[in-house]
Amino acid sequence: MFNFDFYNPTRIVFGKGRITDLNKHIPQQARVLVLYGGGSVKTTGTLTEVLHALGDRVVSEFAGIEPNPSYETLMQAVEVVRREKIDFLLAVGGGSVIDGTKFVAAAALYDGDCLNILKTRGSTIKQALPIGVVLTLSATGSEMNNGGVVTVKSTHTKSAFFSEKLFPQFSILDPTKTFTLSPRQIGNGVVDAFVHITEQYLTYPANAPVQDRFAEGLLLTLIELGEKALSNPDDYDVRANLMWVATMALNGLIGSGVPQDWSTHMIGHELTALYNIDHAQTLAIVLPSMLTVRKEAKREKLLQFATRVWQLTDGDDDTRIDAAIAKTRAFFESVGVKTRLADYGVTTIDEVLAQLEAHRMTALGERREVTLDVSRQVLELSR
Ligand code: NZQ
Ligand code: ZN
Repeated sequence: MFNFDFYNPTRIVFGKGRITDLNKHIPQQARVLVLYGGGSVKTTGTLTEVLHALGDRVVSEFAGIEPNPSYETLMQAVEVVRREKIDFLLAVGGGSVIDGTKFVAAAALYDGDCLNILKTRGSTIKQALPIGVVLTLSATGSEMNNGGVVTVKSTHTKSAFFSEKLFPQFSILDPTKTFTLSPRQIGNGVVDAFVHITEQYLTYPANAPVQDRFAEGLLLTLIELGEKALSNPDDYDVRANLMWVATMALNGLIGSGVPQDWSTHMIGHELTALYNIDHAQTLAIVLPSMLTVRKEAKREKLLQFATRVWQLTDGDDDTRIDAAIAKTRAFFESVGVKTRLADYGVTTIDEVLAQLEAHRMTALGERREVTLDVSRQVLELSR
């Protein structure tokens, strides 16, 4: 029997041309800070559209939130918020810009050292500025959840934080905004969404057929869309469905009341913080090995995954599980995301293990049984 709270106050405004709706969802008197990344929103014209939609509101801009946003950069945005007396934050970009904006929203009103937001994983956040989002990259689900991930560059520490105060008030999802993404970012988005689903689904049975069937539907949709998103880059329907899958994958719905894993993400965060490997690339490296090493603990769900997601019905149980993991790896490779540490030039795993230990990531997974020794086996198998 499960019990849970499912709370998600984010309004989704979906479809081509919906940026004009900004005018409806941001108060007329708001002093708005528009936050964005390294400049893609300028070259694609999205920023111009956003500024136009904001009309004659008082608007400031903060540019330069990097992929895997850093604490150091975000604290500069906090200064702008305080100086300009900003009272509404608008993130225009992908997961990094949205996560960064969430951090700024909390930090601007935080009492004390803002590093403590990360050290307490967000539990000490009491208030935050309101946030709106214009999404340009489907992957993380940050547009409809209350979490973020920020890196302290000086210590190579990538930390997740969560707070009910950090749900965006609204997110504008215009699939045409993703037409300008590179194949690398599209592939990354597919893999990130896929692994968000498996982290909530490939654990152990919890008598939760609704969550299971939703998760399987999302996985099947991703498998159907992945290669099409790359080969038909202007197909609205493909990009729209991909966007919606990625949002649904991590908005709390499929994870409600069921065990969750997240060990692949935690190991992946160390790989990004140390070697600057893209978030989704780290997941593609870790997940297939994690499933292999933890085959016994995940046996029943892996068999369900093999049958329902990969339609593998022949052979004994072990053969089907191995085939399902192999198909998962092949799927990641088919969308252009390599799955071996060597593909990214990483030859030693000791540094990664040392960072996991330093960050107390020594009892991960749905049963807290991913010790450093298990992580070592996983990384060895990922070489
Ligand atoms: O910086 P700009 O110039 O905008 O370029 C970005 C960036 O270089 C570019 N881009 C974005 N939209 C574009 C575009 N280029 C062309 N056309 C567009 N429409 O794409 C690059 C990558 O952007 P980024 O935001 O870093 O990617 P993503 O959305 O994959 O976000 C990754 C971050 O999200 C975190 C990750 O750890 C990582 O830091 N995650 C956040 C989660 C959450 N909040 O729930 C969950 C995830 O598991 C993940 O950990
Ligand atoms: Zn992720």
